[in-house]
Amino acid sequence: MKVLLLGYMGSGKSTVGKELAKKMNIPSVDLDDKIEAKENLKISEIFSQKGEIYFRKKETEVLLEQLESDEKTILSLGGGTPCYGNNMKLALEHSKNVFYLKVSIPGLVERLLKEKAHRPLIKNIEDEELPEFIGKHLFERNNYYNQAHHIIACDGKSPLELAREIEDKL
Ligand code: S3P
Repeated sequence: MKVLLLGYMGSGKSTVGKELAKKMNIPSVDLDDKIEAKENLKISEIFSQKGEIYFRKKETEVLLEQLESDEKTILSLGGGTPCYGNNMKLALEHSKNVFYLKVSIPGLVERLLKEKAHRPLIKNIEDEELPEFIGKHLFERNNYYNQAHHIIACDGKSPLELAREIEDKL
């Protein structure tokens, strides 16, 4: 069984994934961590040294490796993973448990303002332009995110509450 967590940058995929994995006593895997380990570079370095297209190719490669392994895991995707190539279709074909962790635009802005620096897609956006950027970006990405089997509203809930809510739906 694979539980897949997806959602925008800063939606808490990795934190909730770890919490859920602990509760279920199975490993949590973070797709970005796997890419970093494989490339021996930080995500921001992959973007700056090799470019986004290279990153997206690696992302799909690592996604497929993970989806094809039989290991029971909680797999946290990158924010853009479902939105490129056939990734969302592949995810839905390999898992009956795909969860979209949905955070409101103000919620995302609040979280991302604090941690823009190491995120290549938003690090050069001025703080005051972030709400508009996120709003537009999410509008495009929601077409993919909304295909998840379950949509979990995250505002105001702790990682533990979210892990419980997800576990109840499995
Ligand atoms: C990205 C999100 C990041 C990381 C990369 C691109 C995106 O992951 O994969 O910077 O396209 O939204 P997180 O959602 O874990 O920050």
